[in-house]
Amino acid sequence: MQNFWDQRYAQRVKLMKSSAIRDLLKLTEQPEIISFAGGLPAPDVFPIEQVDAASHKVLQERGAQALQYGPSEGYGPLLELIARTASRDGLPITPENVFITSGSQQGLDFIGRLLVNPGDLVLVESPTYMGALQALAPYGAEYVTIPSDEHGMITSSLEEVLATRKPKLMYVLPNFQNPAGVTMSLERRRQLVELAIRYEIPIIEDDPYSQLRFEGEHLPSLLTLENELRGTEEDTYRGYIIQLNTFSKVLAPGLRVAWMIAAPELVRKLVQSKQGADLQTASLNQMIAYELMRDGFIERHIPLIRRTYRERRDVMLNAMDEHFPACIHWTRPEGGMFLWITLPEGMNATELLREAVKENVAFVPGASFHAEGGVQNTLRLSFSNATPERIREGIARLGRVFHKAVAAQTTTASTHV
Ligand SMILES: Cc1ncc(COP(=O)(O)O)c(C=O)c1O
Repeated sequence: MQNFWDQRYAQRVKLMKSSAIRDLLKLTEQPEIISFAGGLPAPDVFPIEQVDAASHKVLQERGAQALQYGPSEGYGPLLELIARTASRDGLPITPENVFITSGSQQGLDFIGRLLVNPGDLVLVESPTYMGALQALAPYGAEYVTIPSDEHGMITSSLEEVLATRKPKLMYVLPNFQNPAGVTMSLERRRQLVELAIRYEIPIIEDDPYSQLRFEGEHLPSLLTLENELRGTEEDTYRGYIIQLNTFSKVLAPGLRVAWMIAAPELVRKLVQSKQGADLQTASLNQMIAYELMRDGFIERHIPLIRRTYRERRDVMLNAMDEHFPACIHWTRPEGGMFLWITLPEGMNATELLREAVKENVAFVPGASFHAEGGVQNTLRLSFSNATPERIREGIARLGRVFHKAVAAQTTTASTHV
């Protein structure tokens, strides 16, 4: 039945979709459910005392400023500190390149507002972060998917697509990708950046997880590679990369403080978007993040997050080896918060989720991470939020669900021979 509002929505509302994860999160709030669904950090590593001390310090020393309106581009000392940190490896990043957002998610929305016209092609990996698909869709983005494997986006496929189509933007997650957990190899990063330069296509480099590496070597960002490849002598970065970073995974998502690095011309337009959206990100929260970054706390804190997630990843992988049928495959992330499961062809992860919830365990079916849909036999597990004991128990329960489904599939197949 139509309600009063149904006839009044703007055209773009038709393009908006509710996130399957958010809907699921409601269900998984029940304490008896072991949830591997939401991408939630571990509450055990939230630095509650340090945030308390930093907010006390800020309020004591600069209370009026913390409770006052501030500049739309962000708190000046934080912009400067981020610029200084980002230019450590020789990148020409100045405060003019930096822009504070209320979470990276807001950054994605602003990019949509500024750069996407209805019908514009946006290249994304398959699978990709559902929140980006949701953010750009209302502006009329049409997605073109590039397949990925355990080394990230397959750049030879990208090259084939670029030979015939002219996308407006590319959206890429090079490190411990959400949802697949895979990391793009150095060779492919180079190829991607070369193609972006050759075809003059901006890249959104969404990078919330790069500091959460548990093993292997840190790889240069797309921003660094692009700056090298263009080989300019600029003293302020003016290239094609828009890099999204956030305090959500290294401090706390509830603060809603994130930042973007981009060409100053684009930053000035982003600031206008911000003025129309929420004027500015909360002054107090920016100042807390600044204090904890300035005194080196965040850098000292990250090893604890890495150790915690590494242990949880290992517990999950070992439990999967023990409990999952041999015909199921999964990724082995070197960092981040997620891993990706591929079930045998013909199995449907959404149907399996119903069975899993009966066993009080939850995951996210993979279909909603595929911009063009259609892929039913994949799913995402998050290993960051549940304790090791709950991970062991949850994976054992999932193993029972998967074994039953595989047995049912085998029976159906044999009765059809
Ligand atoms: C790839 C990716 N981008 C952006 C976000 C949003 O982060 P924020 O909390 O900074 O809005 C997330 C959160 O899970 C994410 O995984």
